[in-house]
Amino acid sequence: MDNRPIGIFDSGVGGLTVMREIIEQLPYENLIYFGDTARIPYGSKSVQTIKKYAFQCASFLKSKDVKTIVIACNTASSIALEHLQNNFDLPVIGVIEPGSRSAASATKNGRIGVIGTIATINSNAYQSKIMEYKHDSEVIGIPCPLFVPIIEEGWEYSTVAELTAEKYLTELIEHDVDSLVLGCTHYPILRYTIKKVVGPNVKLVNPAFETARDLRKLLTDENILNENYEIPNYEYYTSDAPERFRRIGGNFLKKEIDNLYEIAIDNL
Ligand code: DGL
Repeated sequence: MDNRPIGIFDSGVGGLTVMREIIEQLPYENLIYFGDTARIPYGSKSVQTIKKYAFQCASFLKSKDVKTIVIACNTASSIALEHLQNNFDLPVIGVIEPGSRSAASATKNGRIGVIGTIATINSNAYQSKIMEYKHDSEVIGIPCPLFVPIIEEGWEYSTVAELTAEKYLTELIEHDVDSLVLGCTHYPILRYTIKKVVGPNVKLVNPAFETARDLRKLLTDENILNENYEIPNYEYYTSDAPERFRRIGGNFLKKEIDNLYEIAIDNL
């Protein structure tokens, strides 16, 4: 038993969709969330920069004495997972492997779409991991960089969102994909519009669900679950604009964000 918190980080508010799933599946765990709002988006940055930022986020969480780290950000998971696993002496998990496993088991016709940021799709992380799980699959990755600002604007049900989704996703429909990985923290918020565009026969895979399951298994296997069944403590840190984080984040987390602190980027 270990009542230290789990650390979760993302480039901004998006990772709260992952935190939501972790709360759902591990309701007694204490959680610390860090959103690097001063430097979002990671998705259009270089590999070198993303690795550096991810390292700093993990260092911050480590300084808070977390027992494990979850990289909620798909971009950082795609690029920096191994780097962090090699440099921190605590378990670090990302969202790519669990998301890929879900997609491989969801498909019937072996044609899988992956949508994410430019860096995530260019890294090929999802595409190659899915192929490891299902060798004969065809994986099509499409970067959808406009989705993040549309969602942060609160326009997920708008005509703008629908037209943008049509523009990005038509190629996937033409390839007859039957499952689609929502490979970016924000996309579960756009689920309704994406479904409307791709149609009811395409299964949407949210990697957060399987990630929370993997986390649960990890804590169980390592014998570090919190068995103190009291109301858990949630703390939030951002590197900029905490009020915006609180406002937008509430929609992602579907609950009030208290215990929110701003930390200076130079201290990371
Ligand atoms: N959190 C990022 C992801 O899941 C999206 C936002 C960004 O580009 O930083 O890839």
